[in-house]
Amino acid sequence: MPKTIIVSNRLPVKISKTDDGYVFSSSEGGLATGLGSVYKHGNNKWIGWPGIEVTGQHDRENIRHQLDEMSLVPVFLEQEEINQYYEGFSNDVLWPVFHYYISTYTVYKQSYWEYYNIVNRKFRDEILKIAEPGDVIWIHDYQLLLLPSLVRAELADVSIGFFLHIPFPSHEMFRNIPWRYELLEGLMGADLIGLHTFDDVRHFTGSVSRILPVTVSANIITTGERSLVVESFAMGIDVNKYATLPLKKNVKDHISAIKEAFKNSKLILSIDRLDYSKGILQRLQAFEQLLQKHPEYAEKITMYMIVVPSRDTVPQYAQLRDEIDKRVGNINALYRKMDWTPIHYYYRSFPIEMLSALYASADVCLVTPMRDGMNLVSKEYVASRINDDGVLVLSEMAGASKELIDALIVNPNNINEVCEAIITALNMPHDEQKERMQQMRALVTKFNILHWVKIFMDKLKEVKQMQRSMQ
Ligand code: UDP
Ligand code: G6P
Repeated sequence: MPKTIIVSNRLPVKISKTDDGYVFSSSEGGLATGLGSVYKHGNNKWIGWPGIEVTGQHDRENIRHQLDEMSLVPVFLEQEEINQYYEGFSNDVLWPVFHYYISTYTVYKQSYWEYYNIVNRKFRDEILKIAEPGDVIWIHDYQLLLLPSLVRAELADVSIGFFLHIPFPSHEMFRNIPWRYELLEGLMGADLIGLHTFDDVRHFTGSVSRILPVTVSANIITTGERSLVVESFAMGIDVNKYATLPLKKNVKDHISAIKEAFKNSKLILSIDRLDYSKGILQRLQAFEQLLQKHPEYAEKITMYMIVVPSRDTVPQYAQLRDEIDKRVGNINALYRKMDWTPIHYYYRSFPIEMLSALYASADVCLVTPMRDGMNLVSKEYVASRINDDGVLVLSEMAGASKELIDALIVNPNNINEVCEAIITALNMPHDEQKERMQQMRALVTKFNILHWVKIFMDKLKEVKQMQRSMQ
């Protein structure tokens, strides 16, 4: 029976090393959390990196065996590959360019590019070990842009889907990359390329038609004998999970504890991976402005801020962490009172039960990235509001803002606007909260993660039929 092979740089399960040996835990990040809750439904395998260097052969076999029980297949990366392919090319070149963080100091190191090729081939080799004719190979994200063509060159009888989880930048940004041609060529091996929003599709086809010798007609790209399709598919979440978690005993206990701890103040929630694209410093600036200009809110509001450690071996991320530590420290030192701390800041990840309790308890959720492919945190907050209350403040730069139009939409660069939006959110009448939240809940419920997988897979089948009819 044909199977689906999901391929992404990171597996939904990550490994860390403790004194007692290797420990498995859930990965963070939208790709892993989103797909992680559905991949077990069918006849699927997931190939990816378990997030740590494992050197010993015995350890590798052990890990391979344990992951196999979860239908996961590890790609083990050497330290140099982690440095140059993951931290270097993926997160020091592609991530900043795709999120519009390019500067004259951006370094396009040749060795990063060489390792990016080496590792993409390593992933191809893992696919070749398990792929059979008729299988669907679904490749994910910017770390593996070369993989569709590498696989296509070896396997003619498979369907290849590709999904990009981050924004695709305008051609004026993308054209800066020295290997722009090769990167787009790498993607042309796919049958269907999915992006989150219509703007991403427009940017992508704009770059393809300028850089590659292909014809682009609407959303069909023809290269030589083959045609492939590019389309937007806004990723959803496992709504059911977030809507039912607040009813569970242990989550209810967390909710009671949170309500008790913050009984005198309104709770403003902020959850992100450590990333400059998330606008964490600008958000802190807006919060500080509120405390400074509106002292009447002192002791009446508290920001609960979770920053999940991420890529902190890449210099910009390490610097950002220091900067956040400093700003939070300054704000708390300036404004705190005997019985009140303005910001409760946590630099770590939380179990889903605690996240659910926070989503269910927060009066306001502040999601203000400078750029974000989709942003699942905003959808998780909405799905958790089973009483149809609470207010979402959402950046217009997040893909989710195209769907969650009933949020308070802000430009994250406009600190005044964000500050005012927080005040509006804190004072929004209950009826208005309900009206907005009901609309947003209906939307995330309808366009959930299963729907996303289904429409992508249906489209992939349709594209294969179209290709056959053109032969
Ligand atoms: N998340 C998590 N543990 C935490 C905090 C957040 O697993 O302690 C999850 C969160 O629930 C969400 C994901 O990380 O599903 C973040 O996805 P999002 O699309 O918002 O941003 P990304 O990190 O992919 O850029
Ligand atoms: C974003 C990316 C994913 C990535 C995740 C976490 O969601 O789109 O591809 O897995 O961030 O980042 P990390 O570098 O830890 O895998």
